[in-house]
Amino acid sequence: MPIEFVLNGIPHRVEPRPDERFLETLRERCGVTSLKDGCSPQGQCGCCLALVDGQPKTTCAMPARVAHGKQIVTLDGLPADERQEIADCFAATAGLQCGFCIPGIALRAKAITDRDPAPTREAIAFALDLHLCRCTGYVKIIDAIELLAAVKRGATIPPACTDGRVGQPLARIGGAQTAVGERPFIDDLTAPGMLHGALTLSPHPRARVLRIDTTRARALPGVRLVATAADVPGERWVGLLYNDWPSFVAVGEEVRCVGDVLAAVAAIDRHTAREAAKLVDVTYELLRPVLDPRRALEPDAPRVNPKHENLLSRSVIRRGGANAALAASAHVVSGTWTTQRIEHLFLEPESALAEPLPDGRLRLRTQGQGIFEDRRQVASFLGLAEDKIFVELVPNGGAFGGKEDMSVQAQTALLAHLTGAPVKLTLSREESIRVHPKRHPLTMDYTVGCDAEGRLTAVSARMIGDSGAYASVGGKVLERAAGHACGPYRVPNVDVESLAVYTNNPPCGAMRGFGANQAHFAMEGCLDLLARKAGLDRWEIRWRNALAVGDTFSTGQVLEKSVGIRKTLEAVKPHYDAALRAGRAVGIACGIKNSGIGNGVEEWGKARLVVEKNGRVTLYNGFTEMGQGLLTVLVQFAVEATGLPASSFVPKVDSTFDLQCGETTGSRGTLLSGRAVLAAGAKLRADLDAGHSLAALAGRVYEGDIVIRDTTALGAPVRKIKTHTTFGYATQVVILDAKGRVERVIAAHDAGRVVNPALCSGQIEGAVHMGLGYALTEELRCENGMPVTFKLKEIGVLRARDMPVVDVILVEEPEPEGPMGAKGVGEIGLVPTAAAVASALEAFDGVRRTTLPMKDSPAARAMSVGFPLGKS
Ligand code: FES
Ligand code: FES
Repeated sequence: MPIEFVLNGIPHRVEPRPDERFLETLRERCGVTSLKDGCSPQGQCGCCLALVDGQPKTTCAMPARVAHGKQIVTLDGLPADERQEIADCFAATAGLQCGFCIPGIALRAKAITDRDPAPTREAIAFALDLHLCRCTGYVKIIDAIELLAAVKRGATIPPACTDGRVGQPLARIGGAQTAVGERPFIDDLTAPGMLHGALTLSPHPRARVLRIDTTRARALPGVRLVATAADVPGERWVGLLYNDWPSFVAVGEEVRCVGDVLAAVAAIDRHTAREAAKLVDVTYELLRPVLDPRRALEPDAPRVNPKHENLLSRSVIRRGGANAALAASAHVVSGTWTTQRIEHLFLEPESALAEPLPDGRLRLRTQGQGIFEDRRQVASFLGLAEDKIFVELVPNGGAFGGKEDMSVQAQTALLAHLTGAPVKLTLSREESIRVHPKRHPLTMDYTVGCDAEGRLTAVSARMIGDSGAYASVGGKVLERAAGHACGPYRVPNVDVESLAVYTNNPPCGAMRGFGANQAHFAMEGCLDLLARKAGLDRWEIRWRNALAVGDTFSTGQVLEKSVGIRKTLEAVKPHYDAALRAGRAVGIACGIKNSGIGNGVEEWGKARLVVEKNGRVTLYNGFTEMGQGLLTVLVQFAVEATGLPASSFVPKVDSTFDLQCGETTGSRGTLLSGRAVLAAGAKLRADLDAGHSLAALAGRVYEGDIVIRDTTALGAPVRKIKTHTTFGYATQVVILDAKGRVERVIAAHDAGRVVNPALCSGQIEGAVHMGLGYALTEELRCENGMPVTFKLKEIGVLRARDMPVVDVILVEEPEPEGPMGAKGVGEIGLVPTAAAVASALEAFDGVRRTTLPMKDSPAARAMSVGFPLGKS
C-alpha cells in the first residue's frame, strides 16, 4: 500500500513492502544517506535518527507505514546556516572521530538544544541514551553539544584550528562535512547499473557441506547471479599470514564457524539479494564442534582447519632462572586470570563496492585496514595480476583491528567480475558480528615474586588463547601477550609461554591492544597483590619497578631511549594521593604497548606528494584512516616539512602509486607514514627553497620511502635483541564514588611528541571508554559457536551516561626513531584500564577480581548496558 509523507519539505509517495523499515525507505528509495545504518532493525545505535513530526526517532525500528502522513526532517532538511553551525561546533571541539555515529547525534544535538537552551553535561549524556559511539568516549561529543547550546544563546563558535604545525590542534580534515553526513561511507555510494550483494552464512560451527543448491535463489525475480566456491577463478583460500580461510566453503569441505560463506548473490536491490541468500539450500552433515582450546589440544581432538594443526602458535620467552628466583623471593603471588571474547562493534558494518572499469581493471572501494593487502588477496582470489585491481580506501566508520582481515571484499569483487556490473555488498549488524575476528579470550596462570623491598624478581606465566576457526593474526596476538607479560617493569627472570589454538568458535584476531590488555590485567593484578604482601603502596611498588633507559623489557630488549613510564607515574601521583587522602577507593595500573609491529618484520612507510595543476598537493600514503586522525596528522607533518599551509594538502589513499605497507596496525601509522611524509616533504621543500613556485612544480611527484629492518623475532638467537622500534607508556588511576561506581579516570600517556593534542586526547578518551567496557560490561558470549546475542545493549558497550569524568594528561618523552619524536597512541589508551578498575574495586570492597568482565561489581551493576534487556 502506498504511503505519503513530507520529507524535508517535499511531498513523497512511495510503496514500501509490508515489512519495510522506514530507514530503508529513506536511504534506498529517497536517497537520503545522512542517516546511517549501524544496527537495523534493533534501534539501539541512533545512527538512523530523523525528526518525525518534530520528535527524534530511530527510523530503523519504525515500520515504513507509520510514516504515512508525517513530516520528516533529516539533517539535509535543516536550513544551511543551522547545518553549518552544527558542523562547526563538532569540528571546533574535535567532537568526532570516524564520524559514522555523528549525523544521528548531530540531529539529536539540535533537538536537545532546541528544547533546553542550557543543558548540563549530565542532561546531555542522558539525552544521548539511544546513541552509541565506539570511538570518542563521548567527552568531546558532549563538548560539541554544550558549544551548540552556547552558540544558540549568542556565543560565537571559536574558529576551527587551521594551523597545521606539529603540536597544534589542527581541525580534523573533512570533520565538518562528516559530522552532518555529507561525507559518504561506502554504503552511501552508488554507481550506474549497480547491483546489490548478499551472503549465505553457515548456521553451524562445524559441519560437512554435502550439497549447495542455488535453484530457488536463482529463480527469485531480480536475482542476477548466485556464486559459490565453484565460480572462483583463482585461489579461494585467503588470509593475512596463512591462506587458511576459504572465501567460500565448497561442497565436500567443512564449515568451521558460523561466519563461513557458502554463497553470494547479486540482485537488483538489497532486499532481493538478502531474500535470495536465504533461499540457497545447503545440506549439512552436522559434526561435533571443538569449542574449548584445551580440548582442541588433546591428541584425539578433530582437526579444526585443514591447513594447520590445532596449535596455531607457541611463543616462549625464557631469561634467567625464574623457578630458582621465585623460590628465593621474599614474597610470591600466583593466580589465574581470565578474559572474555570481545566484539569490536565498530559502528559501520563491513561494506565494499566493486566496479568493472572500461580498461578491463576492477575498481574496488574498500574500508579495510590495509588496502594493498586487500588488493593482493582479491587479485589472487580472482586469478588476476595485482595491477588489474585499482583499490581505493573510503575512510571507514571504525575498525579497531576488526577490519584487518578480508570480510566482503573478495565476494563483492567476484560478483562484479562475473556480472560485469558494479556490485555493493554491505553486511547487517548480525552478519558483521558473525564474520569478523574478535578479541581473544585468554586464560593466564601467573606467578610473580619480589624481594623484601618490593623489587620484582621473576615472572612465570602460561597463557592459552582461543583463536577460533582461522589464523587471522591470532598467533601474533599471543606472541604480543607473551612479549608484554611483564608489563612496563624490570624483571630479571622470565619464563613465559603462550599458545594460540584453533577452535570452532568465531575467529579471533587483532583488536586494539593486541594481547597486551589481557597480559596487563593479570600482571597488574599481581603487582597489587605483591604490594599488599610487601606492605607497600600500589603506586610505590610500580615506581620501584618501572622501566628506565638501560633496563630490559620482557622480550630481552634493552631499552635505549624514550622510556616514559616514570613521567606518567609522576603525572598521576598528585591525583592518586589526593584521592587516598580523601578516603576514596582508588586503583592504579600502568601499561606498555609496542608502536610498530617489530618482532623481525620489515616495516615500510611510503608517501607521495604530487603537485597538482590547481596548486594543491595530493598526499598519498598506504595506511588507513579509520577515525584515529591519521590523515590529519600526516598533513601536519607535511606542513612542517614543506612550510606550506595545511589547506594546500589533499590526503588520498589508493593504488595510484605502489605504497604497500601492510595493515594499519600496531600503533604504527603515525610512526611510519609520518616519517615517509617528512622525507617526501623535505624534497618538495628543497625545490621551493630553490625558488620554484608550486605552479612551476605542477606534475612533480616527491617520494618518501622509509623502512625499518632492525627488529628481531621473538626468541631469535641474535646478539642484540630489539623486538620493537619503540613503545608507548601509560599510567591510569581510577577513582570510585561512595557506591563503588567509577567516578573519574586519570589517564597519563607518553605520546613521544604530541602531534595534535585534540586528536591525541580524543584517542585516549575513546580508548578509556573501550577499556571500561572491557573491564565491566562487554562480552560476546557464544553457545555452540554462535553468539548468544547480537543486541548492542546486551553486548555491553557503554553509553554516554555510563561514562565517568576522564582526565587525560599528555606526557612527552621524545622518540628519536619517530617522526619529530612522535610515537603511536592508538592502542595503549586501554591497555591498563581493566587492571586499574580491578585495583579500585578491591580497594572498595576487598574482593580481588580475576575474571573479565567484572559484572558482579557495583561499578558494573551501575551501568545501563551489558545485561539482558529488561534487567535494570
Ligand atoms: S541503525 Fe537505527 S538505531 Fe541503529
Ligand atoms: S565517532 Fe562515533 S562511532 Fe566513530
